[in-house]
Amino acid sequence: RKVVLAYSGGLDTSVMIPWLRERYGCEVVAMIADVGQGEDLAAIADKARKSGASKAVIEDVREAFVRDYAFQVLRAGAIYEGRYLLGTSFARPLIAACQVKVAREEGADGLAHGCTGKGNDQVRFELAYRALAPELKVIAPWREWELKGRQDEMAYAAARGIPVEATREKPYSMDRNLWHISYEGGILEDPARAPDPDMFIWTQDPTQAPDRPEEVTIGFEEGRPVSVDGERLGPVALLERLNALGARHGVGRADLVENRVVGMKSRGVYETPGGTLLFVAHRELESLTLDRDTFHFKEMVALRYAELVYYGQWHSQLKRALDAFVDQTQRRVTGEVRLRLFKGGVQVVGRRSPYSLYDPELATFDADSVYRQQDAEGFIRLFGLPQYVEARLEERLATS
Ligand code: ARG
Ligand code: SIN
Repeated sequence: RKVVLAYSGGLDTSVMIPWLRERYGCEVVAMIADVGQGEDLAAIADKARKSGASKAVIEDVREAFVRDYAFQVLRAGAIYEGRYLLGTSFARPLIAACQVKVAREEGADGLAHGCTGKGNDQVRFELAYRALAPELKVIAPWREWELKGRQDEMAYAAARGIPVEATREKPYSMDRNLWHISYEGGILEDPARAPDPDMFIWTQDPTQAPDRPEEVTIGFEEGRPVSVDGERLGPVALLERLNALGARHGVGRADLVENRVVGMKSRGVYETPGGTLLFVAHRELESLTLDRDTFHFKEMVALRYAELVYYGQWHSQLKRALDAFVDQTQRRVTGEVRLRLFKGGVQVVGRRSPYSLYDPELATFDADSVYRQQDAEGFIRLFGLPQYVEARLEERLATS
């Protein structure tokens, strides 16, 4: 048999290669998905082969990651528990899809991942496997093997002549891609404790950010970001531009206690510089171009959408159905939003759209031609009728 492993180059997935070979007597193909983690992927592929993989495949999915995953979650307005922009959550189903593709190409009959049995990521990988390749066997070594932690893994690797650098244990569990960096574990496990300022490797400390504000204009077409300061950019280049800008001004840090799919609470810290700018700008453009009822209803959809992305239900009927709603709402979310960045903060300072529903004739208080103030009297009387009836009842009850 043959197994395709989602390989990161870290200690866990490196040890998994010999473990899978021994435990299952299988050939292991290492699949490395490039989602912009900013590492030397050729070196990682090399490490996979030195660890015993028969083959290491690098799949560059950066474009799809930003265009079809990040930007779709942006269009949905989905934020988990009010803070988390879901950068790891929507990466997993894409990486899983890459694995399935490689498994088909390689004629493999199994899929494996390096997630622990305590987290969200195992759920996301495996729900995607089930949706895309129900026939393939799934192996989650962390849930099966006897290795208890880093010491055991090092010993296991050493005994098999697998190269492991004598690096110190990483103080955090991190996940990086073009959209975000997440940090969990280590001292963060005490939710009362502030993160060490040195932990943040991307965004500037807001207190150290430039003393002068900077403005940026982001252009959207049908809810998709298409330009920065008037320059048209592809999804990856656009996000990279905004990441650099946001990071310079200390934008996009979030620190929260979140509810995992598996029931426990966990403390997570995130850096999402460009994504934060995009969420603020996109929502602002919606406030200009969506009617009230759609805008309000979409907020409910966004909550549910965030849950399903977090839960790993990317390849699901509900996701497709909500996408149909989202796509419909985005048809006129076209225009530009100007933001001002300053010491970790983002302020909207201007917005425009050819489809703006904002009507200055309605909002200003002069001419009575479109909006007749006298009409408000009858409107309020009927709109307030339930309250009026109830008040009358209370009155009667009080005097009887
Ligand atoms: N808590 C976040 C999530 O569930 C981030 C998980 C990070 N994963 C990791 N393997 N370090 O989406
Ligand atoms: C893991 O346990 O593999 C990482 C954390 C998570 O999936 O939530």
